Amino acid sequence: MNDQNILTLNNVFKSYSENEVLLGLSLNLNEGECVGIVGKNGSGKTTLLRIIAGLLLHFSGYVNRHGKVVSALIEAPAFINEFTGRENIEYFLPKKYQTHAISLAKSLDVNEYLDKPVRAFSQGMRQKLALSIVFARDTDIILLDEPFNSIDIESSNRIIELINNSKDKGKGIIVVTHNISKIDTYCDKVLSLESGILKLSDKTRNIDQQKYKIQFSLEDDFLQAQTLLGEYILEADSITKNTLTVTFLNGGLASILKKLSTCNILNIVEIKFNSEGGENG
Ligand SMILES: Nc1ncnc2c1ncn2[C@@H]1O[C@H](COP(=O)(O)OP(=O)(O)OP(=O)(O)O)[C@@H](O)[C@H]1O
Ligand SMILES: [Mg+2]
Repeated sequence: MNDQNILTLNNVFKSYSENEVLLGLSLNLNEGECVGIVGKNGSGKTTLLRIIAGLLLHFSGYVNRHGKVVSALIEAPAFINEFTGRENIEYFLPKKYQTHAISLAKSLDVNEYLDKPVRAFSQGMRQKLALSIVFARDTDIILLDEPFNSIDIESSNRIIELINNSKDKGKGIIVVTHNISKIDTYCDKVLSLESGILKLSDKTRNIDQQKYKIQFSLEDDFLQAQTLLGEYILEADSITKNTLTVTFLNGGLASILKKLSTCNILNIVEIKFNSEGGENG
């Protein structure tokens, strides 16, 4: 895993006639990183995923996939209802991925349904079949819109395992979800889509998110770190202390420090853990 950027969005605007949905949104995704996105119904999460997947072309702003290939589960999966689960896998996937998809489907308990027509599948079974197809493709970026919808607890844990395995392989993942339980076990950061832009989520801040103050001895380092850490930053005090207050999920400190050191930002005076980190604000 490294911090190679594989997706960049800058100043993205999208409206549907009068309805302004995205208002200058920015986002970065690195190799081996999983970003969670939460937000109210209608806040624009699916719209954002469609833009990233290249399914929605009428928007303004900068989107760069850096030549990476995307696979996505966005809203309700479309299958050919008369085909069996196995036939749908064969129809939607190149041959080289089919065996993997079938074994993923079996690991999600779709086994006994594989040879039944999809018309007879429950909603959860359809979702599991779709996830098997998405994870079987060997793509650099995976987009998941509500992957846990209609999924039982046991299989939800299996999906978390698939997300974490994909991260280990260096894939970048974006998960849109209303289900924030266990989100800190697979997301490196959680952002909230509010008023058309992404912010660190208040709702998830008290999951397992910690607050740190990092003080830099050089103003240049402080300024560069500000650009580098972007959406992790809650507060930047430049006047006296060159101090950034940042927040991220438990275990995130190591990857932040690595990010700073790869950019040669090494002159750190101190890092203070703020015990109020679990509270709002
Ligand atoms: N094809 C479309 N034409 C017109 N308006 C649309 C279209 N798709 C989405 N919208 C509008 O854009 C806004 C954002 O919709 P979007 O589906 O992106 O929200 P969401 O955050 O995914 O919501 P949910 O949590 O309910 O899935 C909503 O106001 C919606 O009505
Ligand atoms: Mg949606």
